[in-house]
Amino acid sequence: MDKFFIIGNKNLNGKVFISGSKNAALPILFMSILTKETIKIKNVPNLTDINIALKLLKYLGATIKNEKILFINSDSINNFSPPLYLIKKIRASIWLLAPLLARFGKAKIFFPGGCKIGKRPIDLHINNLIKLGAKIHVKNNCINASIKGRFKGKYILMKKISVGATITIIAAATLAEGTTIIENAAKEPEIVDIANFLNKLGAKIIGAGSNKIFIKGVLKLRGGRHRIIPDRIETGTFLVAAAASKGNITCYNTEPKHLQSVLIKLIEAGAKIRTGKDWIQLDMKKRPNSVNLCTAPYPGFPTDMQAQFALLNTISKGIGSITDNIFENRFHYVSELINMGAKIKIQKNTIMCYGIPILSSANVVCMDLRASATLVLAGCISTGTTIVNNIQHLIRGYESFHIKLNRLGADIKII
Ligand code: UD1
Repeated sequence: MDKFFIIGNKNLNGKVFISGSKNAALPILFMSILTKETIKIKNVPNLTDINIALKLLKYLGATIKNEKILFINSDSINNFSPPLYLIKKIRASIWLLAPLLARFGKAKIFFPGGCKIGKRPIDLHINNLIKLGAKIHVKNNCINASIKGRFKGKYILMKKISVGATITIIAAATLAEGTTIIENAAKEPEIVDIANFLNKLGAKIIGAGSNKIFIKGVLKLRGGRHRIIPDRIETGTFLVAAAASKGNITCYNTEPKHLQSVLIKLIEAGAKIRTGKDWIQLDMKKRPNSVNLCTAPYPGFPTDMQAQFALLNTISKGIGSITDNIFENRFHYVSELINMGAKIKIQKNTIMCYGIPILSSANVVCMDLRASATLVLAGCISTGTTIVNNIQHLIRGYESFHIKLNRLGADIKII
């Protein structure tokens, strides 16, 4: 398995170009199943999670041409049972279920994989598909699902705000008979991007981005083209890189509006922020101040940014607390930061960071995607040479991460 060898004590400065959003691209790729016609997608990031999604679509029979623009045609799909070894690799594979049912009336899918950051049940996906008319039988972590005819539009009140389940319901409702209303829907920018994409193909979805989404089912979708929105978590990660290294970074090809809660906390930490239509500049001249934060569904502070802010707090002035209200087990990286000298205490779903001036190098292990990026940044700002093991987690979700960091002044080599 590859490792990063990082020489630390660097200030990170310069320009970085942000890739397309992983979490918007993955569901959009699977939504291609909803139409027989070709879709053309731009700004798809080059990531292992995306490659697995494309392998899954190919396995089912879709035709794919992956050049500068990604072409997908799902007319030739003739298999409704993707293999366990691919399904297990990504959480996003659950989003195959609703499109396969909507278009072909059947699907057999194993429970999805993905980062081990908590229990991550799929009850909201399954129960709401049943509500919309599917027959679902779950045995030995395998979902056997079928539906006679089309899904039937319904009023759905989500018990809990879930990005994944909101996407599943949108996929089912798009080709349903009648109208579906999702109350207490997730409001993430990725949900808006999916709705915009489907509307270009002829879907009738309104209200995405608010907590109530209306979906009037249509008989079929046509082909179309779409550009994936910028990755807000990649942007946030580079902004933290600058803030933690007393650097000055400008992120281009991004969407400042999607990062408001993150920018507020960076300003609180002492950073100077400037924004334009599609760029964000962060300048940090001094040691940061600790911040307190709690994760929450969008527009709240994203759980996918809590590990990076924990790193910032480890080298800040004062004591900062971070509470994760979304996932119950997302602090695996804490032991690795403690190996690097950080002073952190965990109390249930909260960590308290007691800031120290600088971290020291260590041999650390990545355990999930966002934590991996955090450990790489920790290596860039610590004294000495850090070895980051298991970087396969990182390349699942960050395109050319070490290359982009090296252009900003980092010294990272793959061993
Ligand atoms: C997605 C993102 C992930 C992000 C998360 C929250 C992708 C591939 N992943 O994950 O990066 O951290 O949103 O912004 O886009 N829940 C249930 N039952 C369900 C589904 C979810 O109880 O059926 C719970 C989860 O355990 C969690 C909460 O709902 O506590 C939110 O999860 P959800 O928004 O669904 O996250 P994902 O879609 O898995």
